Amino acid sequence: MSRTVFLTTAIDYTNAPPHLGHAYEKILADVLARYHRLCGDRVFFLTGVDQHGQKVQQAAAAAGLEPLVFVQGLASSFTDLWQRLGITYDAWAATTEPRHTGCVKNILHDLHGKGDIYKAAYRGFYSVRQEQFLTDKERGTDGAFGPEWGDVVELEEENWYFRLSKYRPWLLDFLAKNEGTVSPAFRHVELRNAAERGAGDLSISRPKSRLSWGIEMPFDSTCVTYVWFDALVNYISFAGYGEDTSEFSALWPALHIIGKDILIPAHGIYWLCMLRAMGFADDAMPTFLVHGYVMMDGEKMSKSLGNIRDPNTFIDAFGAGALRYYLMRDCAVGQDMDFTDERLIQRYNSDLANGLGNLLNRTLSMAKRYRGGILRKMPSPLEVFVQERVITYRQRMEARQIHAALESAWEVVVRCNAYVEETAPWKLAKDPAQADRLDEVLYSLSEALRIVSILISPVLPTEADSIRVQLAWGDAVHMSGTAWGSLADGHCVGEALPLFPRIERA
Ligand code: MSP
Repeated sequence: MSRTVFLTTAIDYTNAPPHLGHAYEKILADVLARYHRLCGDRVFFLTGVDQHGQKVQQAAAAAGLEPLVFVQGLASSFTDLWQRLGITYDAWAATTEPRHTGCVKNILHDLHGKGDIYKAAYRGFYSVRQEQFLTDKERGTDGAFGPEWGDVVELEEENWYFRLSKYRPWLLDFLAKNEGTVSPAFRHVELRNAAERGAGDLSISRPKSRLSWGIEMPFDSTCVTYVWFDALVNYISFAGYGEDTSEFSALWPALHIIGKDILIPAHGIYWLCMLRAMGFADDAMPTFLVHGYVMMDGEKMSKSLGNIRDPNTFIDAFGAGALRYYLMRDCAVGQDMDFTDERLIQRYNSDLANGLGNLLNRTLSMAKRYRGGILRKMPSPLEVFVQERVITYRQRMEARQIHAALESAWEVVVRCNAYVEETAPWKLAKDPAQADRLDEVLYSLSEALRIVSILISPVLPTEADSIRVQLAWGDAVHMSGTAWGSLADGHCVGEALPLFPRIERA
């Protein structure tokens, strides 16, 4: 039965161009989107950019530009990269769009009307340089605020608050009853613990005197909306919430794919309570797939640590497929991964060049040389092995364990390469009595490659297409095509083309 799958990623701050950490998340979401399309599911994949807030305002000021001009200038560094990486999103969430800002205002208006938003004064220590209130966490061991904060003044400020605490009992109960809300499971436990520790209400406005770059509060023109309250709403504003209810309810709820830094409190606490306050029922709550970090030398890759790598340089050097494959194959979803150029090259050479590329090349060359490219359909000893791997592949993809699903596909590649060595077709070709055996081997290898091309297509879409062209197999690509035996008796395979040339280190 076909499912509707609504996938989102976090929307990225547009204070700088995207780096490999951002790219990892988009590729992860894209692979899941492509997998579901392959299964015949209806997919709505939403991603975009988070254009408001202090970080963006500061970056724009540093560049000497108006914030809107700044974010518009940066937008193509995101959309160009997603295009180069083959990210097949269905809708683009840019939070300066009227569709979104209007939706945020409507929600604020409604929550204000029902008494879930109120005004209160807050007194605290404020760093003028960093333009933020400081808490005890920011104090040094001597109890003072360090020099990095510049002048720290005691300040009283009036802000609008969302009654988060009112929804905390509901959240605790909801999380206790719905253990599948966050995966991996240990992140769900972390969220429950955080929700139990509790917190006060959430300040959701900023006075324009210190932050002007945001969505103006609909009932108070002196302030703008706090960036998280604005950004989280993208998941519904760009899916038709409040516009076309039937379209929205056909899609919702979403699976949110996010990094581990933004589960608590933003998504797991603020967002769930916001949705509840808007009237979403328990069975209309989203779920979360929480991934780890792409690390450089043991540290999170981030602009503030100065260790970012531009994904474009890897696409230039090795192609988008090499990067997509490496990130998906080497990172167990939910865990951190250490990114190294050496490891990327090693994975590429061993799995793609020597593994899959070599299998394809030798299979097609042998079929051409010994049989003029024509296959005879024969019963195959590999059929059961391959079909078992298709089953585990699917189970692993459903569990969103992409690296493990790829492992199932590569078990087929490894088995097939070993089968070539075991059966030595070059010897069979010399012995007329072994003609049937040779036909069986060539059919088995071609058919296994056809099935592998379907399995790898979510991760390596361009390369999967090339394999199908080389096999001269033109059927529409669908999961049902992984059943053994689609290549017909008398099928003629195409020309072998180099697909994964080995990367030689300089
Ligand atoms: N704008 C907010 C998200 C709002 S969602 C309503 C934000 N932006 S971000 O640019 O800082 O991060 C965007 C996404 O990229 C987050 O999911 C974050 O976890 C992810 N990553 C940023 N650096 C990362 C790595 N080094 N590794 C993997 N993902 C990381 O947070």
